[in-house]
Amino acid sequence: MTKGNFPVDKLKGIETPFYYYDMELLKKTLKIVKEETKKYGFIQHYAIKANANKRILELIASEGFGADCVSGNEVKAAVNAGFPASKIVFAGVGKTDKEINLALDLNIFCFNVESLPELEVINELAGKKGKLAQVAIRINPNVDAHTHEYITTGLNENKFGFGLEHLENVVEVLKSLKHIKLMGAHFHIGSQIEDISVFEPLCKKVNELQDFFEAQDIKLEHINMGGGLGIDYEDPDKNPIPDFADYFALFHKNLKLRDGQIVHFELGRSIVCQSGTLVTRTTYVKRGETKTFVILDAGMTDLIRPALYQAYHKVENISSDLPLAKYDVVGPICESSDVFVKDYSLNETRRGDILILRSAGAYGEIMASQYNCRELPKAYYSDKI
Ligand code: LLP
Repeated sequence: MTKGNFPVDKLKGIETPFYYYDMELLKKTLKIVKEETKKYGFIQHYAIKANANKRILELIASEGFGADCVSGNEVKAAVNAGFPASKIVFAGVGKTDKEINLALDLNIFCFNVESLPELEVINELAGKKGKLAQVAIRINPNVDAHTHEYITTGLNENKFGFGLEHLENVVEVLKSLKHIKLMGAHFHIGSQIEDISVFEPLCKKVNELQDFFEAQDIKLEHINMGGGLGIDYEDPDKNPIPDFADYFALFHKNLKLRDGQIVHFELGRSIVCQSGTLVTRTTYVKRGETKTFVILDAGMTDLIRPALYQAYHKVENISSDLPLAKYDVVGPICESSDVFVKDYSLNETRRGDILILRSAGAYGEIMASQYNCRELPKAYYSDKI
């Protein structure tokens, strides 16, 4: 039996909970991203933070993408999976000396630098190695991404990047840093951005900043527009692949690039999200005073997004064709926030039924924890099951 793209019979035999990855969908998604970026000569660095599962990374690396990392261990994971260091960018507000040294030793493509003290430390550490560190400065453009406040990064109140009012000073300081080569400017305003028109004011800001840099006689080889493209959590079957064509076309249309300038992107979620599903079993169906609870063997330790961001993941019972009934679907963790959905219609559910939580390929497996001494979820793949 299959339900949608799910090989129910094969999944039934596996101990739950686990992540299941549709490798065909991931391949299709990667192909479209490649086609759409190629049209404009754009370069895509996959944001490793979304999912650092080794097989997923290897596939993405083998398709020729670069990597966007935010820790030394992500840089190592990228290199181990086959991403060439020359295609790695490294962001993050708190890079330690150890992480910076690692990246310098590997000769990564570019540090996305977020503050003056960081710039000074990279200069010093590169100097000690007799190297020239390639950097882009991350600029906080104060543009609202209209997404959840926890995943908004481009406002003045956020900790990320250089504020616009500091740029003149940064340009001054850069002149004195002999072991830094300024390559580009970097922007990332937030994640799960569903209304892509918010990127228009961002492009406008970038165009103004380009004039500023030009007036300072600074040539930027690249502009990095970050990631953020949202996906359809409500209806993953209708929209398994986000509209990359419209997304990249928007930047092509709105950015005023200088000669030879290349635009880079760091998409994470939109690449991997719809390929991943959390597969879990019903441990108990419990009738409460006013509600009926479906208690799963997966909890917030396996998929924390609903508890942390009030995020919605579509839930389906792939074992049942019975009429619909209303449930709160919860995990076994000793926290009241361990709830996936409330007052939710599912095919009538019994102990042992397999439920799936959709669109869990991004910020799912990678954010799993061992709270309550639980095991980390395993992963299985459509091409090897
Ligand atoms: N570049 C930078 C500098 C970032 O901070 C991020 C995400 C990305 C790229 C990739 O963004 P994406 O294309 O995936 O939207 N855990 C949250 C999302 C946190 C995003 C953090 N930064 C969630 O589960 O919704």
